[in-house]
Amino acid sequence: MPAPHLPDYDLDACRCQIPLLATTIPMNNCSQAPQTLATRAAAERYLASWNGDGMDWDAWMAEVRLARAAFARLVGADEDEIAVCSSVSEAVSAVASALDFSGRRRRVVASEAEFPTVGHAWLAQARRGAEVAWVPVQGGVVDASDYEARIDDDTLAVSACHGYYLDGFVQDVRQIAELARARGALSFVDAYQTAGAVPIDVHAMGVDCLASGCLKYLMGVPGIAFLYVRRALIERLEPLVTGWFGRVDPFAFDAKRLDWSPTASRFDTGTPPVMNAYVARAGIESLEALGVDRIRRWHEVLAQRLIDGGRARGLTVLGTDDVARKTASTAFVVDDAHAVERAMRARGVLASARGPVIRLAPHYYSTLDDVDTALDALAAVARA
Ligand SMILES: Cc1ncc(COP(=O)(O)O)c(C=O)c1O
Repeated sequence: MPAPHLPDYDLDACRCQIPLLATTIPMNNCSQAPQTLATRAAAERYLASWNGDGMDWDAWMAEVRLARAAFARLVGADEDEIAVCSSVSEAVSAVASALDFSGRRRRVVASEAEFPTVGHAWLAQARRGAEVAWVPVQGGVVDASDYEARIDDDTLAVSACHGYYLDGFVQDVRQIAELARARGALSFVDAYQTAGAVPIDVHAMGVDCLASGCLKYLMGVPGIAFLYVRRALIERLEPLVTGWFGRVDPFAFDAKRLDWSPTASRFDTGTPPVMNAYVARAGIESLEALGVDRIRRWHEVLAQRLIDGGRARGLTVLGTDDVARKTASTAFVVDDAHAVERAMRARGVLASARGPVIRLAPHYYSTLDDVDTALDALAAVARA
């Protein structure tokens, strides 16, 4: 049994992989995770290939496939149920574009906890007939019964973030997907704030579509995201956002033939984000090596410390204080979040401002001392 103040993996070994820790306490994983030796080496492998070989499409496409496979393993999907996109915005827009809002069923039920981009993608479908019904956020959390009250026989899609970007609240997406399915609606889950931090099994959760980018708990970079589409659904969806990599054979080069890949790669569009795929795979594989379930256990310890330590320092926590229902990302209400973020950076702590809160979001490599130091800095800055 590990000591209660330590995770059940080698924390020191993890920390040696992150050069930034020599000078800084990164508590901004809800926004951008730090670079590791592995992700840097992956980016450099691409640069070496580009510089040394000039062009090596076979190796580069193989690397994209490996990244796709790594994400599939991470979320319990099969590789051919995963599309490679450039952002969650692109993924949700592509799913929305594949739906038919011209009939009686044209309601989208989405929560106010959605990252704005997801809300925008659904609202943009109004021109094609979509009507969005919003599930409220109250006190930083969402009540699943508020979905139930809004999902009806006219509902075409239900859109739920797994983790709320503002305060880390984790929704029961299995239950939400079940509510959607019971009324014949499709479920879309934005897992950007949970992928790599909370175990995900798309088949067990019963969700239809799930998307995440890589630059938060997946330790990656912008410019690549993955979209899971449940196998039985794939052939029914033809996204209006498309391109040559969405075809049966991208290298058939027939501009007059729009054939749809039988796999989720029909949601791929243009030339894949090759360099980002190198980094994405390295990030995901480093988490796999630790195990997301073990990371999650450590996150609960860190979250508890943030909540208790924040309150002890007179700070106000937004959202639930039940660590089983949130990620490690914890939100504290402050007067001027961006000023607080800047002042904390000057003290060597990276935090993340969003609206009325400053978020402290540790990850697998964080220590309880990191949390205490970050809270001390936040309390001092907030007082000032
Ligand atoms: C939950 C969530 N969804 C979506 C996004 C944005 O995704 P993208 O920029 O890849 O479209 C973010 C970014 O912070 C996020 O936290």
